Amino acid sequence: MALLELENIRFNYSDKELYKDACLKLNPEDHAVLVGGNGTGKTTLLELAVGNLRPDAGKVIWEPHVTYSYLDQQLKVGQDQSVISYLYGVYEPLFEKEKKMQSLYEEAALGEDGYEKKLDLALRISDELEHASFYSLQEKVGRLTQGLGFSDEDLSKSLSKLSGGQREKAYLAKMLLEENDVLLMDEPTNFLDVTQVAWLADYLISYPKAFLLVSHDEAFLEKVANVVFCLENQSITRYKGDFAHFKTQHEVDLVQYKKNYEAQQRYIKKEEDFIAAHIVRATSARAAKSRRARLAHLDRLEAPGKSAVKVHFHFPFSTHVGDVPLEVEELVIGYSRPLLDPISFKLKKGEKIAILGKNGVGKTTFLRSILSQIPTFSGKFKWLDGIKVNYYDQDKVMDLSLTPFEFIHLHHPELDNTQIRSCLGAVGVRKELAMRAMSELSGGEVTKARIALMTLEKSNFLILDEPTNHLDQIAKDALFEAIEDYPGSVIIVSHEKDFYDGLVDYEIRF
Ligand SMILES: Nc1ncnc2c1ncn2[C@@H]1O[C@H](COP(=O)(O)OP(=O)(O)OP(=O)(O)O)[C@@H](O)[C@H]1O
Ligand SMILES: [Mg+2]
Repeated sequence: MALLELENIRFNYSDKELYKDACLKLNPEDHAVLVGGNGTGKTTLLELAVGNLRPDAGKVIWEPHVTYSYLDQQLKVGQDQSVISYLYGVYEPLFEKEKKMQSLYEEAALGEDGYEKKLDLALRISDELEHASFYSLQEKVGRLTQGLGFSDEDLSKSLSKLSGGQREKAYLAKMLLEENDVLLMDEPTNFLDVTQVAWLADYLISYPKAFLLVSHDEAFLEKVANVVFCLENQSITRYKGDFAHFKTQHEVDLVQYKKNYEAQQRYIKKEEDFIAAHIVRATSARAAKSRRARLAHLDRLEAPGKSAVKVHFHFPFSTHVGDVPLEVEELVIGYSRPLLDPISFKLKKGEKIAILGKNGVGKTTFLRSILSQIPTFSGKFKWLDGIKVNYYDQDKVMDLSLTPFEFIHLHHPELDNTQIRSCLGAVGVRKELAMRAMSELSGGEVTKARIALMTLEKSNFLILDEPTNHLDQIAKDALFEAIEDYPGSVIIVSHEKDFYDGLVDYEIRF
């Protein structure tokens, strides 16, 4: 029996049918990934699986007693508990057992009647603890927190004091420690840096249980998947094998789908011609009518690529103002204490660089420092006069009750309705989406709306902090092109090597 089975699922949001009898079966040996374009319904599918949403038709069946953990995109663990005690909380029952064992030993040591029984029991508990790897917990927790880039200082902080990304990481660490039968994860790499993504991939490869995760990060998917579910044309296709195999097979299937579609179109045309010619003839009207009825029931294939959202980004360029727009000299950054060694580099006109950093320390802090949003310790940075920066802030707090339309209007009241609509339309946020609260949009759709705002700003310097998070491959390609065509200087922070490779002139590693 499958651990989880979605059977003939249908679900629609007011204007959109997301699935037509979609099926998905997760088996115990599956390290599964769910892929599909932005807004196709991946997050919704996970929400259906865990019962946060109910399908309009079809069933969600969990095998009895199967346990799962679910990492969603927006997490809320606000307790006033330190990270480390939160993580050790997973082992609460084992600690209880240890306590019991200790007291049994103590009682047995008194040598009173029945002490042998107590000793026996204590030894049995000790075996159980051993079996549950209790004595290597510290090492296990340590390996995990280190892999995810938690410093000792972070571990003693209370959860409520962590940044959003760190909190997600704490939760991810907890899920990995819990080792429930199934892990469900929605874009777990979004809040990790390069090293951590690599670490997570390795961890998942040897993960002893099943998982189903959503991600647009193909390099990551190539490492972890042994089965791929592809959500497309409102249905889910299962591809056994790794991601590379899926890509090849999917190409083949697309060609076949196109052929089937064309064959169906020819058939429809032929039938329609027949019906049109015969419906009014006394002799053959009956045949025409029955063919018409048959045609009406035909399950029509959607035109290939019809549901793929077209995306185009363009960052308007003002003008060059000199040869070295940014010069950073021995700059020391941090909050309560310096985070990194002094940083020095010069960025020339039109030069594009990627900033890589070990274990999540300081990249965003560096960007904030050179944007003068936070103070620095020592050293300096110098912008040329006339530099106008267009900044994509990874951690920007968004008012998600606004619609994309209102969001753009708020920043650009001078634009009329048509201008706002066409700006959003260009990035793939079509009319219905533009008028719906962003809390009701998919992750990729919100990101597109945010980038739409950037396409309205004239600048000569782009700073992009993890801009590819949530974007599907089509949108990432469009973003790549827009940055490539941009004549100004660019700083990119991204954990996706596939994205910035071939785009930047060089990398800076902190
Ligand atoms: N509460 C809602 N009301 C109406 N429509 C919604 C709501 N939530 C999501 N949608 C729409 O349903 C579609 C599927 O959303 P979902 O979040 O499942 O997509 P996704 O595949 O996870 O996309 P992404 O890759 O961008 O994360 C989207 O077009 C979205 O706009
Ligand atoms: Mg999603």
